[in-house]
Amino acid sequence: MSEPRKREAHAPKAGVKIHPVVKYPEPVLARVAEPVTEFGPELEKLVEEMFESMYVAEGIGLAAPQIAIPKQIAVVDISFKSRPEDKLVLINPEIIEREGKATEEEGCLSLPDIREKVQRPEWVKVRAQNAKGEFFEIEGDDLLARAMQHEIDHLNGILFIDHLSRLKRDLVLRRIKKLQRNGEW
Ligand code: NI
Repeated sequence: MSEPRKREAHAPKAGVKIHPVVKYPEPVLARVAEPVTEFGPELEKLVEEMFESMYVAEGIGLAAPQIAIPKQIAVVDISFKSRPEDKLVLINPEIIEREGKATEEEGCLSLPDIREKVQRPEWVKVRAQNAKGEFFEIEGDDLLARAMQHEIDHLNGILFIDHLSRLKRDLVLRRIKKLQRNGEW
């Protein structure tokens, strides 16, 4: 997930691989990602690469399919490095409870410069595993709820534009086609 504000350029940690973010309509973005079954150092390394790749791309959430890895892994940091406790790793996540409705503008690193209002539940409870395979639950509202839902959608092959009305979605797709024609996508 991305926000409109421009971030200070992130200098990635030395020796950590930065993965490029793939854009719509890359087929990997439309697939349901595979569950993670192996936990441990290799997965922890990938999670670190995902955080660093997300910061370089100036995002506050990134799902593994966005770096062409079709696995159920997402990272979120709604405060973009400001509060260490906001760093969240969601492996094999599932929304187990949802409440309310909220409409806010959303953006996505795989749909650069496209921002549209999306209605989603205002509060969610998520059950997931961490990189060690331990199960945990986390609940959140506002931006955290939105970011978790946006990233979990990615793991199910869903983009935020899939939540728009048919008319709005068609307008966005037309805008993207035009950008593609002009070599700006
Ligand atoms: Ni996204």
